Amino acid sequence: MRKQIAAANWKMNCTLQQAEELLTKLSTATVNTTENKISIIGVPAPYLLLAKDKLKNKANFYIAAQNCYTKKSGAFTGEISAEMLHSMQITHVIIGHSERREYFNESNTTLAEKVNIALEYALTPIFCCGEALEIREANNQNSFVENQLKESLFHLSVEQILQVVIAYEPIWAIGTGKTASNEQAQEMHQHIRNVLANKYGKEIAEQISILYGGSVKGSNAADLFAQNDVDGGLVGGASLNAEEFTTIINAL
Ligand code: 13P
Repeated sequence: MRKQIAAANWKMNCTLQQAEELLTKLSTATVNTTENKISIIGVPAPYLLLAKDKLKNKANFYIAAQNCYTKKSGAFTGEISAEMLHSMQITHVIIGHSERREYFNESNTTLAEKVNIALEYALTPIFCCGEALEIREANNQNSFVENQLKESLFHLSVEQILQVVIAYEPIWAIGTGKTASNEQAQEMHQHIRNVLANKYGKEIAEQISILYGGSVKGSNAADLFAQNDVDGGLVGGASLNAEEFTTIINAL
């Protein structure tokens, strides 16, 4: 059975004091998680160890970094390596978020390297894909997302692809309050699963979690997560509020 996941992406938000408060609230929240219904909290790099410590007694909670560099170590000022994350016992890393693709020029090829090094250090990549508004308006979203998957993931072996979580985040729905409809989300998630099935076989594709991201809130999470191929969400704004994010976790 594939995992159902409520993942938070705090992005570049929260002071240390705000992070402490939010993590404390999450650590005492009443959540219905299980081994197959998990939550992953993607915090800014300076708060990774704090988050790990605050949530250490919270079953089925994991901590994610929001990025890692392509190289193992060396003279790359300001970057964070997969090896460092592994040495901190961080388990997940978000790779290829549309904001990193746009503001930091991350290409599909660079992202393939990031996925490789994350896997080398036993980190689960949460690989983001998704189209901009112009692409959706031209009805080219399916081939666009397929190409993102092909160029960044399809060199992976079966064993490796089974370690990856995919997050479909249509750029036009991120931070806009404009969520994809349940039908639009299901249609794309089914397409992604078909693309994975064509490459790796149906049985493998059925085991890969595909999360939806883009204006997920407490009020729409349950309907989105009820779609056959939507295995949870990657949540930005609404994950900064502990009560709202708890509602989202419990919608799994
Ligand atoms: P919002 O939930 O704020 O739309 O952000 C989605 C996102 O980018 C999560 O990675």
